[in-house]
Amino acid sequence: MATLNVVQRDGTTVALEGAAGHSVMEIIRDGGVDELLALCGGCCSCATCHVYVDPGFADLLPPMGEDENDLLDSTDHRSARSRLSCQLAFSAELNGLTVEIAPED
Ligand code: FES
Repeated sequence: MATLNVVQRDGTTVALEGAAGHSVMEIIRDGGVDELLALCGGCCSCATCHVYVDPGFADLLPPMGEDENDLLDSTDHRSARSRLSCQLAFSAELNGLTVEIAPED
């Protein structure tokens, strides 16, 4: 198990244990953080799993796909740290990763 730190919209951080092979979105959802809506269930078609990723981990993350990039363009809150958490496979390598839940569109 490895730890995923999640900064919620009220600024509080929760530390969740994440199993390798699950997506960051699944770990957040299953960890009881309900402000990440993830409406499409991880099909990369809704952008409601938008998070900001700690830049220190950027090189360890999978590259952004075209669909993810297009969906992020549709949000009002995109930044250089934006990713869709359903597209980020968690692994032991990512132990200590911090993601911040983006504002709701
Ligand atoms: S859960 Fe819908 S795009 Fe990630």
